[in-house]
Amino acid sequence: WPAYAPLIAAINEMKAAKGAVILAHNYMTSEIFHCVGDFRGDSLQLAREAAETDAKVIVQAGVHFMAETSKILAPEKTVLIPDMRAGCSLAASITGADVRLIKERFPGVPVVTYVNTSADVKAESDVCCTSSNAAAVVEWAAREWNTDRVILLPDEFLAKNVATQTGIKIISWHGRCEVHERFTAEDITELRAAHPGVVVLAHPECPPDVMAAADFAGSTAALQHYVEEKRPGKVVLLTECSMSDNVAATAPDVDFIRPCNLCPHMKRITLEGIYDALANMQHEVVIPEDIRVRAKQAIQRMLDLPK
Ligand code: 13P
Ligand code: SF4
Repeated sequence: WPAYAPLIAAINEMKAAKGAVILAHNYMTSEIFHCVGDFRGDSLQLAREAAETDAKVIVQAGVHFMAETSKILAPEKTVLIPDMRAGCSLAASITGADVRLIKERFPGVPVVTYVNTSADVKAESDVCCTSSNAAAVVEWAAREWNTDRVILLPDEFLAKNVATQTGIKIISWHGRCEVHERFTAEDITELRAAHPGVVVLAHPECPPDVMAAADFAGSTAALQHYVEEKRPGKVVLLTECSMSDNVAATAPDVDFIRPCNLCPHMKRITLEGIYDALANMQHEVVIPEDIRVRAKQAIQRMLDLPK
């Protein structure tokens, strides 16, 4: 990326001078992901890195709920997000007050909350999950609370997909990922007809009929791992567009077919924004301590479960 070279060099110098690390989600554009990211991965991997890094400053190259997760786990660190508007349709679908009402309606039923939520929502939850461990966390909660029903918020499709996988009754919410809800089973039929032999990989935020028609489903890290291990001749990743670019860099022999959808929130994070974040130490993520402590309990429970 020659046009970006001076900016990349300036960011990397500033990172060293300020004791900062950049946590880059798999949906970052490649120049961010490969050239300035210190840790790369899915939301679970980035949360683990936030908890473990010795750096004084974390720049979250991802969306706001990810930066909040870092701050919840590392309150003594300065956590910066280059653009405060980098939200998420799932996180925006539900508030802490909504969760309190759900709990009143279903007393004693454990509340599992997807990490794609605000700190306020996590604070009302018993345990968090990500796309890479949702089924395992729901099964754990059902065992721990000795119940056959679990509340899983706020993604209606993830909830349906986990219910199919586990056989556990799931009480859900109406949140949807605006990127993954747009993929259809017909897309897969057309892809298979146009590209015989193509391997179809889907993210679990996709609708259930897409999951059923795909060859494999998993978190962004699981999709990357699948391609790197199995090296399919032709693959399509039914997820955000930058995933294919980032995985293609490590699997040059694989042919990536690309219907994909852009996440407008992830795309608010740019190299220029990261530079400004470090230069001006902006925009700092702040969470009221009482909410942070309760939210941390839900995240920590997830991190403490066996891998
Ligand atoms: P992952 O945890 O799989 O990285 O997913 C995060 C996300 O926002 C997917 O849309
Ligand atoms: Fe949220 Fe979907 Fe964007 Fe992920 S891809 S940040 S779930 S809107």
